Amino acid sequence: MFSNLEIKEEGSLTILAINRPAQLNSLDTEVLQEMGKWLGENRDQGRILIITGKGEKAFVAGADIAAMKDMTPLEAEQFSSLGQRVFSLLYHWPAPTIAAINGYALGGGCELSLFCDFRYMKKGAKIGQPEITLGIIPGFGGTYFLKKIIGEALAKDLIFTGRLLSAEEAKEYGLVHMILEEEDFLSSVIKHVKNLEDKSLLALRSAKNTINDDDISQALIKERTLFAELFSSHDQKEGMSAFLEKRKPNFKNSD
Ligand code: HXC
Repeated sequence: MFSNLEIKEEGSLTILAINRPAQLNSLDTEVLQEMGKWLGENRDQGRILIITGKGEKAFVAGADIAAMKDMTPLEAEQFSSLGQRVFSLLYHWPAPTIAAINGYALGGGCELSLFCDFRYMKKGAKIGQPEITLGIIPGFGGTYFLKKIIGEALAKDLIFTGRLLSAEEAKEYGLVHMILEEEDFLSSVIKHVKNLEDKSLLALRSAKNTINDDDISQALIKERTLFAELFSSHDQKEGMSAFLEKRKPNFKNSD
């Protein structure tokens, strides 16, 4: 039914895997729409949810750069808005959500994990917000959630430089909760998540609801407005073309 998602049940847990391994599970409109549909339709069951990526290499390597390259500012705003809406469903999911970061979690992939309650990361995986190297900024809520989770100084460091963190650095920064060995990574995640299984779902739901921010919409509007504006720039076209052509970008920093 979903061509880009694989959904499995494991006891009382549900595992949702993004299934586009040839594109490193990058997110385009179709994947986001499928995620939104599944999250919307299954919300009331309130099962504990693990999000991961198919294949050995990536959790999610970001939004699909080829799909974004020629977007107009309006299309970019709509794309950002779609992702923010879908990820917000995850933030407000009535039971705990866990990102099982099995490989690259970059850009929109890092953002996807930030909307989850827990981040478990495979040893050897990398996480970061490399949008700056494409001439853009995060657009799926990363500017808000990264600052909230690791603080303003580190959020600026990661977003300004685009550098990627190892699992050990991410743990030191408080970005991920736990590093798990590569072998049987998903089984180890499931084993740890099972600690939640015997808790009252009703109480978990209330705990999450109490802790969650009531209104994230203003922060998301500001981010997507600034994100979309960049799609009228030379730098966004150059940054994305350079990535796809596998060369260094030449940004216009002076005229
Ligand atoms: C589209 C992507 C992609 C992406 C990788 N691929 N990431 N395609 N969108 N985000 C494709 C590559 O073009 C390549 O296709 C194939 O996947 C394998 O990737 P390689 O680069 O050849 O692999 P490798 O050298 O191992 O490097 C892995 C990598 C690198 C470090 C993850 O692929 C990378 O830097 N990807 C981009 C990461 C990124 O900038 N993400 C942020 C995107 S912006 P071919 O056809 O050559 O095999 C974003 C904004 C979110 O997320 C907000 C939007 C509103």
